[in-house]
Amino acid sequence: LFAGETEFIKGVVAMDGLPPADRLEVCFAGRSNVGKSSLINALTGRKGLARASNTPGRTQEINYFTAGDELYLVDLPGYGYANAPLPVVEKWQRLLKSYLAGRQTLRRAFVLIDARHGVKKVDEEILSLLDRAAVTFQVVLTKTDKVKGADRTKVLAQVRQALSKHPAAYPELVLTSSEKGEGIPMLRAIIATLE
Ligand code: GTP
Ligand code: MG
Repeated sequence: LFAGETEFIKGVVAMDGLPPADRLEVCFAGRSNVGKSSLINALTGRKGLARASNTPGRTQEINYFTAGDELYLVDLPGYGYANAPLPVVEKWQRLLKSYLAGRQTLRRAFVLIDARHGVKKVDEEILSLLDRAAVTFQVVLTKTDKVKGADRTKVLAQVRQALSKHPAAYPELVLTSSEKGEGIPMLRAIIATLE
């Protein structure tokens, strides 16, 4: 699946701009700066594919990437960053809602959670949205290279506890570090089993 050509297809700002629903897709959601773009780069093995940056809110569009010709990887705009004007945030929420509820070929949403912080209030909103849209989501912890030992155990317990309230949650967590490569082969394997 990931051996084929990967490329950027387009950035989408409205539902009518989505590419044809002619293959499976998975999307990556999460707070701004959680590491969505970095994870897509790690999965595809192409460093500069999705733009990663230190500026929160960098990814403002729904960005479509191909992985081979059977799969789209979808980089969603980050939520929860400060300083975004309210109308922008609201436009976003509407687009995100329509996308999550209306995209037939969406097989799984990966919700990225920073392994240092666990599930926050802003995350809860998207988890509930996914419940309502009946989109199966799986939590991917990011930046695990920054969290060791007992702190890891603590965060895992917090995340599991938070997920127990969400019927659309897939129970298995994936621990990843885009920097060190932890969990990347596992996540590729999970995506490869979706059909
Ligand atoms: P937005 O597009 O703004 O929503 O952010 P994003 O979720 O796409 O985050 P991005 O991939 O741009 O990464 C944000 C910052 O976190 C960058 O400085 C990355 O280098 C850093 N980062 C991402 N993944 C990891 C990781 O696995 N480990 C560490 N230590 N840093 C990471
Ligand atoms: Mg990004």
